[in-house]
Amino acid sequence: MQLFLDTANIDHIRHGVELGVVTGVTTNPSLVSREGKIIYRDLVREICSIVPGPVSTEVLGQDASQMVVEAREIAKWAENIVVKIPASLEGVKATSVLTKENIKVNFTLCFSLNQAVLAAAAGATFISPFVGRLDDIGEDGMRVVVDIVQFLSYYRLPTQVIAASIRHTQHCVMAAKAGAHIATIPYRVLLQMIQHPLTDTGIRRFTDDWRKVMGDEGIVEPFKIPKDDQGNSSR
Ligand code: E4P
Repeated sequence: MQLFLDTANIDHIRHGVELGVVTGVTTNPSLVSREGKIIYRDLVREICSIVPGPVSTEVLGQDASQMVVEAREIAKWAENIVVKIPASLEGVKATSVLTKENIKVNFTLCFSLNQAVLAAAAGATFISPFVGRLDDIGEDGMRVVVDIVQFLSYYRLPTQVIAASIRHTQHCVMAAKAGAHIATIPYRVLLQMIQHPLTDTGIRRFTDDWRKVMGDEGIVEPFKIPKDDQGNSSR
């Protein structure tokens, strides 16, 4: 499962890419507005220059023709752009037009298998089921991810699933088990994924055991070859 960052924050994106584990980014109008009053195109271009893979950028129009106009413009911004189109009937129409023009579409705000069936038929590159928002209304968000993954694999369709609206690390575990191709996660969740108290105590114990025998110098230069009393190297 690939990891995308679900943010428009440049510092967070840089850090995720530096770690070598973030291969793409998803943004949406809410995430972009969190960065203040910026020039949309400039921010997205900067993100695209940092990230090695797809960067999803959402249209704001609500009818198909407006979505298509915006998507064609957004698609010019960078090579690795993917246009996010909402899962409405107008969105299906726009997706069908755009995919025929080889513009990559991330079919977003997807909450059901039926919406995903339409997205795949329209040729979307990615489908984003929103797990957390379904959980919020008492439904099983991850069930939709499981169903979409099974459907795409059963019919050997090329569309990829981005498990979205990820709220916590258990969502990442479940998305990986469900076979989601990608999970797009908040920066906070990325940092939490590595955390385990047994790792922390394990590192502390190894260091303490080493220091007890080697002393503090051994910690500073653990690979220095010790010298004997006459100053000769022991090897
Ligand atoms: C995905 O592409 C969306 O930007 C995102 O996951 C939405 O998540 P939220 O429900 O936390 O806003």
